[in-house]
Amino acid sequence: MWSSPSQCLLVSLVASSAAGAVSTKRDNNDGATYVNLASRKGPSQHLASGFIYGIPDTFGQIPSHFYENIGFQYGRAGGAQEGAPDRGWIWGLSDYQGRLNSTLTDYKTCREFDADFILLPHDVWGTDQSNSSTVWPGDNGDWTNYDTFVTTLMADLAANDALDGLVWDIWNEPDLSLFWARSMQQWIDLYVRTHKIIRANRQFDRVKISGPTLSEAPYNTSIWWTSWMQQIKGNNTIPDQIAYHLEAAPGTDSYDLANTYPSVLAMLRSFGIPERPQIINEYASFTEQIPSGAAFWISRLERYETYGLRGNWQDGNTLHDLMANLLTKADPFDYTATDYMPAPEYPVYEYYYRNMTGDRFNTTGSANLQFDVYATMDQVIRILAGSQTATGNWTINVENLSSIGLATEGSVSVKSLAFNGNGHYVATYGPVDLGVSEYAYSGDTLVIPINQNTNYTAYAFEFRSGDSKTHGW
Ligand SMILES: *[C@@H]1O[C@H](CO)[C@@H](O)[C@H](O)[C@H]1NC(C)=O
Ligand SMILES: *[C@@H]1O[C@H](CO)[C@@H](O)[C@H](O)[C@H]1NC(C)=O
Ligand SMILES: *[C@@H]1O[C@H](CO)[C@@H](O)[C@H](O)[C@H]1NC(C)=O
Ligand SMILES: *[C@@H]1O[C@H](CO)[C@@H](O)[C@H](O)[C@H]1NC(C)=O
Ligand SMILES: *[C@@H]1O[C@H](CO)[C@@H](O)[C@H](O)[C@H]1NC(C)=O
Ligand SMILES: *[C@@H]1O[C@H](CO)[C@@H](O)[C@H](O)[C@H]1NC(C)=O
Ligand SMILES: *[C@@H]1O[C@H](CO)[C@@H](O)[C@H](O)[C@H]1NC(C)=O
Ligand SMILES: *[C@@H]1O[C@H](CO)[C@@H](O)[C@H](O)[C@H]1NC(C)=O
Ligand SMILES: *[C@@H]1O[C@H](CO)[C@@H](O)[C@H](O)[C@H]1NC(C)=O
Repeated sequence: MWSSPSQCLLVSLVASSAAGAVSTKRDNNDGATYVNLASRKGPSQHLASGFIYGIPDTFGQIPSHFYENIGFQYGRAGGAQEGAPDRGWIWGLSDYQGRLNSTLTDYKTCREFDADFILLPHDVWGTDQSNSSTVWPGDNGDWTNYDTFVTTLMADLAANDALDGLVWDIWNEPDLSLFWARSMQQWIDLYVRTHKIIRANRQFDRVKISGPTLSEAPYNTSIWWTSWMQQIKGNNTIPDQIAYHLEAAPGTDSYDLANTYPSVLAMLRSFGIPERPQIINEYASFTEQIPSGAAFWISRLERYETYGLRGNWQDGNTLHDLMANLLTKADPFDYTATDYMPAPEYPVYEYYYRNMTGDRFNTTGSANLQFDVYATMDQVIRILAGSQTATGNWTINVENLSSIGLATEGSVSVKSLAFNGNGHYVATYGPVDLGVSEYAYSGDTLVIPINQNTNYTAYAFEFRSGDSKTHGW
């Protein structure tokens, strides 16, 4: 989702969803999180380092180091919001080729950094230039034009050697009228049909399929989710990735991965569909795209081993720039300017990728669902912590210190860092070093209290394991 009108719609959907299984905030002061040093969950893979659109149409316009230093992992695009002569398939072959060119530039950029690329065919079709009076796939039961579109696009992707690391995201947010102005059943017909066309072509065996890519959160109270599941099960057209979007206002618990992740598992089970990886191929609202929100989302996605791509809330040319608000410029809306600088969240993603190396630890987010932590260890234990843009008093309880060679009580030197940046476009170079303090602890547990007065700051804490040869900083 990239435009504000759909945000209004999303909020009303949230308000009307009445899913019973959602955890809700308890006591607002219940901001305790836990890092269990005795429970490791495999090497860091920076699952959250993806974003949608955000890549300029001129290849190489954003210097490579900006992609490299965040371990760019996943892109997703299809040429949205390009005007004539690049409006997409329904405007004629030349408009189709224009959009395809922009999409291939994004694909090439992703592959240059070993990132996978999620194709948005609805863009290439030209949905953003459409309205209810436009031609939509399958209108009046006639799929001829759409089938030709799909097979042409497949042939062009193959001809351009664009199948490696490719994911075909069948249709974006069909539950929003902006992206789909026809019935739910016509969309499910489209889903099943497209899946079958792609899977009938052996050359596309290595191409993944994702869906349903709904904007509505995944609960069995959603007719879009349950109808889709029933029919993909019936047709054996199960995608390789269960894709959906989490972009509600901060604090909307029904759009919290902590609730949606288990709900998807339960729904798959209840429809007899084998488990598939979940991917949040749009995460975080614009409000949450500040350092605190970045650390919160990273922690959530890592806990559930779920790849994520940052949502992009820009319009027009800027949608194809700024790496979904990870970058800024003197004039961020001057599309051709190249004075790129890191925006406030960039240093969080850089630290996440460059510094949080080694094994990850099992963590528990706060019971009020507003604060979360991500933790790794090589020689140094590093903890990244952030709130869902809330202020508050939080604690990080680092348990089982003895399992990394420290005594069960004593004191430890902890270095603290703050990731600041109040606003989306403030150039921000790295975290602020808050210094090293001695923390006394007992009971094998180090308690780090945080009194958070700003709603934008993310924090990192570092200390050495007992096995580390070096002591102090
Ligand atoms: C819907 O999901 C909830 C939570 O998983 C479950 O308790 C309930 O039985 C489900 N309802 C139906 C009709 O499947
Ligand atoms: C992480 O902790 C949770 C809850 O305590 C537990 O269910 C899960 O098995 C743990 N994961 C690992 C990898 O140990
Ligand atoms: C698309 O790109 C090709 C190769 O770069 C170029 O020859 C062609 O003119 C472009 N077409 C459009 C419509 O932009
Ligand atoms: C609707 O889309 C058609 C093209 O598909 C266009 O000609 C028409 O102007 C659009 N109408 C509105 C109200 O935007
Ligand atoms: C297969 O999908 C179609 C939609 O294209 C649907 O009408 C039909 O009911 C599905 N079949 C089964 C057995 O679910
Ligand atoms: C992160 O690691 C890089 C190099 O690996 C180092 O230059 C940088 O100072 C580290 N950043 C922090 C905040 O420790
Ligand atoms: C953060 O706080 C500022 C100043 O109090 C406020 O204007 C802004 O709306 C808040 N942002 C969020 C995401 O809560
Ligand atoms: C944090 O706790 C202190 C008291 O220990 C209180 O004065 C302060 O208002 C709390 N801060 C927030 C943001 O809740
Ligand atoms: C880790 O810490 C928790 C909480 O203190 C404790 O219940 C658990 O037994 C510890 N695990 C190990 C392996 O020491």
